[in-house]
Amino acid sequence: MVTWRRKRGSRFGKMPWWFVGISAVGTIYGSSVLIKQENNFDKNQEHRIVGKTVLITGASSGIGLETSKELASRGGRVLLACKDRKKCEIVRKMIIDQTNNPSVVCYDVDLSSCKSIHKFADDIKTNEKRLDILINNAGVMGVPESTTEDGFETHLGVNYLGPFLLTNLLMDKLKASALPESPSRIINITSHSHTKFSIYFRDLNLTGNYSYNDAYAQSKLALIFFTQELADRFSKDNISSYAVTPKTADTQIGRYLAVNQSLSFYILRPLIWLMLSPPEKAISTIIKCAVDPSVSYKTGEYWYSGKIAEASPTAHNPNTQSRLWITSEVWTKLKQH
Ligand SMILES: NC(=O)c1ccc[n+]([C@@H]2O[C@H](COP(=O)([O-])OP(=O)(O)OC[C@H]3O[C@@H](n4cnc5c(N)ncnc54)[C@H](OP(=O)(O)O)[C@@H]3O)[C@@H](O)[C@H]2O)c1
Repeated sequence: MVTWRRKRGSRFGKMPWWFVGISAVGTIYGSSVLIKQENNFDKNQEHRIVGKTVLITGASSGIGLETSKELASRGGRVLLACKDRKKCEIVRKMIIDQTNNPSVVCYDVDLSSCKSIHKFADDIKTNEKRLDILINNAGVMGVPESTTEDGFETHLGVNYLGPFLLTNLLMDKLKASALPESPSRIINITSHSHTKFSIYFRDLNLTGNYSYNDAYAQSKLALIFFTQELADRFSKDNISSYAVTPKTADTQIGRYLAVNQSLSFYILRPLIWLMLSPPEKAISTIIKCAVDPSVSYKTGEYWYSGKIAEASPTAHNPNTQSRLWITSEVWTKLKQH
């Protein structure tokens, strides 16, 4: 017995290199499969949205594209709001082919331009009979210091102030489509990065000490405050709001990062790929907040991984919440229209 144990111990110690290699690859593969798997909410599509209209910004790629496809497959009228009409048309055709739902439409909007947002909101108000679900998904990350057409720092403008203006311009449409038993829903796509900065009122454009990480974090935190303020202001009108962090997904969100253009990125690409979910596996919380009747009144909350989650302590401050709303009204000139 003792002899056998010794033998086994010595064999283990002299394990051939190829065996160690195969074990390592197997372990990495197994872990990555686990990481990539996500409980897909409502896989059998029990919750249909026939008769409802949903608008998704940034529908031309990544999380926006997959969300649009899933909602089209549930029978809704899906409005794809994109910056690039050519990309939008390709995605529209693909979604119609794959879902057999012909009610998928392209609209043009550039969230870095208040003028474009006004034009887009007018188009929606003129052409669409109703609007039940608005998903503020479009976003940028890692952009070098720059400003939008209206002079807003780019992350702040595209990720937060643009959606702020758009949502307010579409509010009457959302209100008109809402019923007490079926509230209209506004879903703001935020990120774990919201924990990494604050709302820097002294210099919202971060001109003094710019960092794209801070700028992205600030814009994503602003979306959480926006979600809370929407709940306070509009739950009486049967409108519910949700701030959702999707699973970390393999999309084009890192396109502006210098590391993505370097040689080391291409070498590390397979490893990075293993760590990320495909976009279609990252959207289940967004879909839940869009369609699940059981969450229709859980307004103003922060969501992650299929449930209400704890946002950063920084994201709980009623003074910041109302000050941000008022500042955003002024910056976007909301009251002048
Ligand atoms: N991927 C992740 O792991 C992750 C994690 C947390 C949160 N998020 C958030 O999820 C959302 C979707 O990102 P994604 O990962 O799917 O990235 P993505 O593939 O880069 O998609 C971003 C979308 O936003 C659009 N967009 C960018 N600037 C715009 C503008 N000025 N006006 C209108 N549309 C604009 C893009 O259109 P073009 O392609 O035409 O530029 C694209 O359709 C973002 O808000 C992001 O912050 C992503």
